[in-house]
Amino acid sequence: GLKKKEANVLVVGLDNSGKTTIINHLKPEETKSHDIVPTIGFNVEKFQTKSLQFTAFDMSGQGRYRNLWEHYYKSCNGIIFVIDSSDKLRIVVAKDELDTLLDHVDIRSRPIPILFFANKMDIRDALSSVKCSTMMRLEQIMNKPWHICATNALTGEGLTEGTDWLADQLK
Ligand code: GTP
Ligand code: MG
Repeated sequence: GLKKKEANVLVVGLDNSGKTTIINHLKPEETKSHDIVPTIGFNVEKFQTKSLQFTAFDMSGQGRYRNLWEHYYKSCNGIIFVIDSSDKLRIVVAKDELDTLLDHVDIRSRPIPILFFANKMDIRDALSSVKCSTMMRLEQIMNKPWHICATNALTGEGLTEGTDWLADQLK
C-alpha cells in the first residue's frame, strides 16, 4: 500500500524537561514504557501522526551527553526543543543550549522547523508559553519556522497541536 512520508526529528532540551515522557506519550500503546528513567546517551523511537511517520532521536539532556546532539543535526528534518516551564532558574541554560544549536554549522543556514514544547504547564507557577518564548528570545529566530505550545506530557495536553504543526511543515 501507500507508505506514509517519513521524517527524522531530533528531540533535545535540558535533562528533566520531559523529552522521554513526551515521546512515550506519542508512541503506540503497545510500545509505551511504564517507568521512565533519565536517558543515557539517546534512544530512537517511532511514532505516527495523521500524515507522517516520525523517527525520533530522544537525546539525553544531561550536561555530559549534550555533546552528542550535534552529531544528529545533519540528518534531522526537524527539531523538537523541550523546555521545562517550571524550571525558572535553568531557562537561561536552556537558552544557551538553544543558541549553541542555532549557531551550529549544520543548522545555521538550514530552514528546518523547530517545535518548542513549554512542558510541565500543570505545575503551579509554571511560565506561560509566551513568557518562555520571550525569555528564550524566540522572536530572533529568522530563517526557520518555529512554533511553541504549552504541554503536559503526563496527560498529553498540547502535544498533538505541536506534532500536527511539525508534520505540516514537513509535508
Ligand atoms: P533526560 O533524559 O535526563 O534528558 O530527561 P527528559 O527530558 O527525558 O525527562 P523525562 O521525560 O525523563 O522526565 C523527567 C521528569 O519530569 C519525570 O519525573 C517525569 O514524570 C516528569 N514530567 C515530564 N513531563 C511532565 C509534565 O508535563 N508535568 C509534570 N508535572 N511532570 C512531568
Ligand atoms: Mg529522557
